[in-house]
Amino acid sequence: MTQADTPPSLAEALHQDALAVNAELDRLIPLPDGPERVVHEAMRYSSLDGGKRLRPFLAMRSAALFGVAEDAALRVGCAVEMVHCYSLIHDDLPCMDDDDMRRGRPTCHRQFGEATALLAGDALLTRAFEVLADPATHPDPAVRCELVAALAHASGADGMVGGQMIDLRASQFAQDMPAITRLQQMKTGRLIGFSCEAGAILGKAPSQARLALRNYAHDLGLAFQIADDLLDVEGDAAEVGKRVGKDEDAGKATFVSLLGVERARAQADMLAEQASRHLDMFDERAVLLQAVARFVVERRS
Ligand code: IPE
Ligand code: IPE
Ligand code: MG
Ligand code: MG
Ligand code: MG
Repeated sequence: MTQADTPPSLAEALHQDALAVNAELDRLIPLPDGPERVVHEAMRYSSLDGGKRLRPFLAMRSAALFGVAEDAALRVGCAVEMVHCYSLIHDDLPCMDDDDMRRGRPTCHRQFGEATALLAGDALLTRAFEVLADPATHPDPAVRCELVAALAHASGADGMVGGQMIDLRASQFAQDMPAITRLQQMKTGRLIGFSCEAGAILGKAPSQARLALRNYAHDLGLAFQIADDLLDVEGDAAEVGKRVGKDEDAGKATFVSLLGVERARAQADMLAEQASRHLDMFDERAVLLQAVARFVVERRS
């Protein structure tokens, strides 16, 4: 199945959720008057109108499994998307991957300069936690606290930031499958894991359901990063919206550099299938989450 054959219900759901995310981010990141305005412009530039919005989709659709109010799930989806957008701004900086294109446009630092890009990333990160801590996200302070702690853990040095640190150093060390798996789980998997678990936190889900979502997210996150690495080798820059061939140029260790294209693709397919099976307990309520697992490995951008 190609991306063009993606079930219309999934394509439609992704589209609808992306529209809702755009509208909410527009509200959550207003443009004030005053000399600080440019940092807000840079935050909006890098977070509005772009990207697949996969993480908000996961948060919103996992929340729907437990009957959570849509506006609460949307706020949490926007919070994780803000952290993701901050991570992309910083990932593209000259001191990291040094990229010029992101989501089909100049990267934040190419548009606004490095210092503003750095600050826009910082501000998106902190705004995300402000959103989670706001009573509008959930009336129960214990739930808000759990969301804040989980997102902090997923984003920080034990999660995404730690993975980025290993990624920068990866070309200096011999890498084997367990080492690359750990790197990818931290760099990409933890935020995807938070997105799925957020629905369970908001819905105060029973432990068995939480575990199923955690297992789903584990396999989905790995499949997602293998697909990203495959797109870096095989993708078309115009379609992907960012430079390709950059991992090999930088000597980055990835599943593709270790396994080769064919075996990496087979591994991604196997993980997507496995991810989907973890949600069988939810019956047809999980069909969109199961469909998105296939989308993640078949995507062209
Ligand atoms: C790209 O993430 C960076 C990685 C974590 C691999 P996405 O592929 O989700 O990027 P957008 O949000 O759709 O632009
Ligand atoms: C970045 O991974 C993951 C982040 C945590 C931002 P990559 O460096 O592979 O992401 P792209 O390919 O630039 O989007
Ligand atoms: Mg990188
Ligand atoms: Mg990069
Ligand atoms: Mg990449």
